This record gives sequence, C-alpha cells and structure tokens, in this order.
Amino acid sequence: MTLEIVILAAGQGSRMKSDLPKVLHTLAGQSLLEYVLRSADALEPAKIHVVIGHQSERVSASVNKHLTRAEIHWVHQHQQLGTGHAVAQALPNIDPASCVLILAGDVPLIQPETLRPLCEIKSGVNLLTAILPDASGFGRIIRDPVTKAAIAVVEHKDANEQQLAIREFNTGVMAARADELKNWLSLVKNENTQSEYYLPDIIALAVKENKAINTFTANDTVQVSGVNSQSDLATLERHFQYQLAESLMEDGVSLADPGRIDIRGTLSAGRDCRIDINAIFEGDVALGDRVKIGPNVLIRDSILGDDCTIEANSIVDGAQIASACQIGPFARIRPDTRLGNGAKIGNFVEIKKSDIGEGSKINHLAYVGDSKLGRRVNIGAGVITCNYDGAYKHQTIIGDDVFIGSDCQLVAPVEIGEGATIGAGSTITKDAPAGLLSLSRSPQIQLDNWQRPVKDQAK
Ligand code: UD1
Ligand code: CA
Repeated sequence: MTLEIVILAAGQGSRMKSDLPKVLHTLAGQSLLEYVLRSADALEPAKIHVVIGHQSERVSASVNKHLTRAEIHWVHQHQQLGTGHAVAQALPNIDPASCVLILAGDVPLIQPETLRPLCEIKSGVNLLTAILPDASGFGRIIRDPVTKAAIAVVEHKDANEQQLAIREFNTGVMAARADELKNWLSLVKNENTQSEYYLPDIIALAVKENKAINTFTANDTVQVSGVNSQSDLATLERHFQYQLAESLMEDGVSLADPGRIDIRGTLSAGRDCRIDINAIFEGDVALGDRVKIGPNVLIRDSILGDDCTIEANSIVDGAQIASACQIGPFARIRPDTRLGNGAKIGNFVEIKKSDIGEGSKINHLAYVGDSKLGRRVNIGAGVITCNYDGAYKHQTIIGDDVFIGSDCQLVAPVEIGEGATIGAGSTITKDAPAGLLSLSRSPQIQLDNWQRPVKDQAK
C-alpha cells in the first residue's frame, strides 16, 4: 500500500503573537516544519503534501529542496477554515487507494518509529492518542463505556464538564485510506464553537459507518507536544536541549550543567572534553579530544583539534582550529580562518579570513583580517591590519618568525619578509624586507618652555 503524508501548516498560529508563521519558529535552530518533514521523509512516503496558507510563500521558500527525498507538494488553503478543510485541499492530488498519514506542522518532535505502526490500513482510522494528567487545550478521546473503543473526539472548546475531565487526548496524528477520508470529510460540518471544519470529526463519522478506530498510545508525551504559544516552544526547547545534553554526557563529555548548554545543529566531541556553562553550538561543530570550552562561548560551523582551549566569552565562527590552540577570553574568530597547531589568540582580538601559522601569537587587542601569517609570528598589542581601502579588501602577508611591535598599522596590500621586526608604533605602507628592522616613527623631541596647564581654583 502506498503511503502519502499530509502536513498541516496553514494556520497563522495567532496564540504565538508573532508575525512569523508558527511552523517557521525554531527549535534548536531548525524550523518546526523541518523536523516534521524529516520524520515524514523517514517513512519513505510516495509524496509529502504540505498545506500552507498564512504567508505561504515564506513557508515554502524556507524549505531546502534537498531536505527530503520524497517530493514535496505545496497545497494552498486560501482560507483557514479548519483542519478538516485543510486535509480536503490536499486530497485531489492523492491516490485514492493510498494510506494517508496526517501530521501537524506544529508538533515537531514526533519520531518515525511512533508513526510507522499507523501507516498500514485497510479501512477505518488509525489514531495516535496520548495521556496527560491535564489535557487542557486538546481534543479529548471519547470511548464507548462498554467496548472502550474510541467513538469520537471532542475539542476542548466544545467539551462539557465531564468530557474535560478526560485525560486521553488526540495528538492530531491519524491515518486512513484516501477514498474513505474523502467521503468522511465531505460530511464534516462546521457547527461548533469555532465554526471550523474539524478533522477529528471523521472519527464519529467512521464509527457511524461501523468502521474500526484503532488507537495507538504514545508514551513519550514530548513527541506529541504541540507548539501553540511561546511558552510551549520554550518548554519544548528545554526538553530537547536536555536530551541532547544527556546524549553528550553518555558519550563521555563533561558538562558543568546539562541545563545550561544549547546545541542548534550537530555537535560531535572526542574524549574528555569539558564544557562550561552557557556554551552555544550552532551549525556543524566538531571537537577533538580534551577540548575545553569556557563559559559563555559561541561556536558555529567550526572544527577544533585536540587539546584546544576556548576561554570565556569568545566567538569562533566558521573556523578550522588545529591542535593545542588557545583562544580568548573575549576573542572573536570570524569565518574563513585557520589556526595552525599551538596558535594563541588572546583577549580582544578579532581575526577574519586569515591563516595563522603554527605557534603564532596574537595575544592582545588586535585586528587581523585577510592575512596570511607564517609560523612563530608574534603580533603585539594594538596591531591592526588595514585591509579595507573603502572600496576593496587587500591582503597582508607575514613570513615566519616575524615580530611586530605594539600599536602598528599594516596598510594592505603589504608583505613582511621572514624574520623581519617592525618597531612599535609604525605605520607600514611598503613591503618590509626579511630579517631587518623596519619602523616608521617621528623622532622624539622635547619642548624646553612647555608648561602643563594648571586649573585656576578661583574659577
Ligand atoms: C488540534 C486538534 C486537537 C488536537 C490538537 C493536538 C482539530 C480541530 N483539533 O487542535 O483535537 O488535540 O490539534 O495538537 O484538529 N491548520 C491548517 N488549516 C486550518 C487550521 C489549522 O493548516 O484551517 C493547521 C495549523 O497550522 C496547525 C495544525 O493544523 O499546524 C493544527 O491546528 P491548530 O489550530 O493548532 O489545532 P489545535 O487547536 O492545536
Ligand atoms: Ca496545535
């Protein structure tokens, strides 16, 4: 039996009180919709239909073509008349003999293994339910008092006292044959408190036709948690981050506090890595063995070799850091930077698009951009590569064993030869030859009659 999946994502998500469509809000750096698409794709469906409406262009444009192997059909629901109406918009493109699995775009952590048992169906409805001590906000599952079979779903807003006490709820995930679904949806009415065409109304309609309702209960309520408010989103984010932290610790990473780490992408770590509080990892980050990450560090899309230390309040973005490098505190490494083994980048140093050779040191208050540094170079405090002339960027090339005194400006394009020394306070506008001392400095003078101003106390 072929499987087709419908993901409902047309709603505005008014309870989020945001201009961003709800399914584009992010969890651990990825949109809610991306999670649902990945889980859907893992089931190898023939097609995935995503129903969009509110800011539809923005939603469809947000998804990378290569995210799923299955083809994505974007279905437009021009008016959001309810979840039943939304599914009906997708049906004309669906093979009538296929199994249709319906997912909500705002339930991001649902896993393929939870969905798989629902995907085979001859007739009737497969319904995923869950149980919470307080199922407020959800549609409640009504069961026959005798047979205990599910016979209807009643939305929270339409429920009476007695129904509100029911703890079993509709997760929003269900499956049915496309032809049966089409028939039931054509019978759904919008006579309810929200004047919407409710998808879960098909349960009672199927029961009327003596079709079986098979319920599956999800034990992991995090998987079926929907995002309806900012508070829901933040709660789910913490749950998810805690899971990521747990699996890092299982792999041997030492965390100062598993409640204070954020991974928005993938993080791999070697043996005996230690991560202090409030570290944020974005995109793809790989740490070697024995890497130490200090507090309040942000690392994005970077590779760090063995024995590196990143001190507090540093940012490493788009960089390749070899072994035994030391960075920070308060350092900023910008994209396209490579550090050789044992390089040292100290406080208030910014590096952009540069190669820093093995054992080179830039210890304090410097800006190095568009540069190539050889090995064992020493850059003094306050050195700046003037890489930008207002229109173009230019390169600075510095050979092995160069020593640059404090407070120099290297006006690019410029080359400093191997073993050269640049005297402190120089503005270097011409290439400096290898092995020699170059300096550009006005001579020191004394003024004989100069007096320091003194404040007149009478004024
Ligand atoms: C829905 C279910 C409820 C269930 C809950 C589980 C209905 C009527 N209620 O309620 O039984 O307990 O999910 O999380 O189905 N959408 C559209 N078009 C529309 C309306 C909604 O695409 O016209 C999409 C939304 O963007 C969202 C999803 O359908 O992704 C669910 O809609 P939402 O309004 O959040 O329904 P709930 O009130 O959560
Ligand atoms: Ca919802």
